Amino acid sequence: MGSTAREHWSSRRGFLLAAVGSAVGLGNMWRFSYLTAENGGAAFVVVYVAITLLVGLPILLAELVVGRGAQRSPIRALVHYGGSVWKPLGILFVAAGFLILSYYSVIAGWTLRYAGSALLGGFEGDAGARFGEVASGWDAFGFHLLFMAGTVTIVGRGIRGGIERTALLLMPVLFVLVCGLAVYASTLEGSGAGYTYYLKMDFSQILSPRVVTQAAGQAFFSLSLGMGAMLTFASYLGRDHHLPNASLIIAFSDLAIAFIAGLVVFPMIYALGLAAAVSESTVGALFITLPRAFAEMGAVGPCGGFLFFAALVLGALPSAISLLEVVVAGSIDGLGWNRPKAAVVMGMAIAVLGAPAAWSTDVLGVMDDVANNLLLLTGGLLLAVFVGWFMKDPVSEARIGAEGVAWFFLWRVLLRFVAPAVLLYVLWEAIPGTFASIRALWGGD
Ligand code: PHE
Repeated sequence: MGSTAREHWSSRRGFLLAAVGSAVGLGNMWRFSYLTAENGGAAFVVVYVAITLLVGLPILLAELVVGRGAQRSPIRALVHYGGSVWKPLGILFVAAGFLILSYYSVIAGWTLRYAGSALLGGFEGDAGARFGEVASGWDAFGFHLLFMAGTVTIVGRGIRGGIERTALLLMPVLFVLVCGLAVYASTLEGSGAGYTYYLKMDFSQILSPRVVTQAAGQAFFSLSLGMGAMLTFASYLGRDHHLPNASLIIAFSDLAIAFIAGLVVFPMIYALGLAAAVSESTVGALFITLPRAFAEMGAVGPCGGFLFFAALVLGALPSAISLLEVVVAGSIDGLGWNRPKAAVVMGMAIAVLGAPAAWSTDVLGVMDDVANNLLLLTGGLLLAVFVGWFMKDPVSEARIGAEGVAWFFLWRVLLRFVAPAVLLYVLWEAIPGTFASIRALWGGD
């Protein structure tokens, strides 16, 4: 039943870097900074961190427990533990992976293109007009295809030879790049106002429903939760792995990189007096503002710009790999396909589904809204309920390889009560807005 001859990670470090690589990505840099700008700076950050720790972390551990325990891809793993009534949840996971990758890769294509432009001479000219050219039409579609081709190639090579090797190679470079950029940003004159905006609390903003829902969506997206990516990666783990520690390492690395990315973006934007341009935020804000900032930096601009956009590409690739892996693992287990076939066929289907996002950033924005505010949050809620209430004795499974851990009781409480309550509230708040944006897209231009 699918568990013989299953591939496994060659080392703990390989698994951890691949999982951190899945978590750290455009979500930490592009999405985190534009949402923070849109939702009042530090207040948003506090709510986001709280939701990550109280809701995200327990669900992350739940995914790891189900994946390692079942040694199967999401749909089969859920059926294995819960019977076929849980199959639709697995299908929801795979569908979410499909949808998210289709537009994620379009944005990754923009970053590739911007990294290339930086190398070829920088960002002179009108940044808004340039974004228009880069972000929609055949150019955007072409770079989306290029990025998908890279992702397919790596996933096609398998867990050790493709996914693990890429993570081992890219993640250390990414970490050094992001830290280096943060140090550089701190040397810019006038960066102080950026730190103030980013780190100073405005308590009146904290508990607005909008801030809470956006922060929850961001926490799930950034941790790659609610769609089986972590579950799938954990299914290639041996039984001795310490899952609670893994969940802590993944969550804190993800928070740390998001936080440091903010230390790059905000000082830079404020030092160059571009704050107003970001707060009228859309998906494109960062891609318009930062090139403008780099253009104003003079001689160092192209080099800084290249390093920044290269960091985005390096972050995006391991995340995209994990998204495709969910779909590919499902096709291998469920349809009996071999890995290369699954990677190529599913990759092509996802590339086609991304076409509308490559032609319209409005469509892309709505896809992102639907994926986060509906699919990931619903997936996370149902998984919390599944592991918290239906799975038989998840704590014994979690305890394997982690005997001394003292917080399993707390984990159970968070999973059974806190996470479902928060997620129900968030979904209740988020659903009308998401449907309104779908309708606006339909009815509008
Ligand atoms: N976590 C990734 C990021 O922050 C995106 C992602 C979402 C990856 C869901 C896998 C699954 O960029």
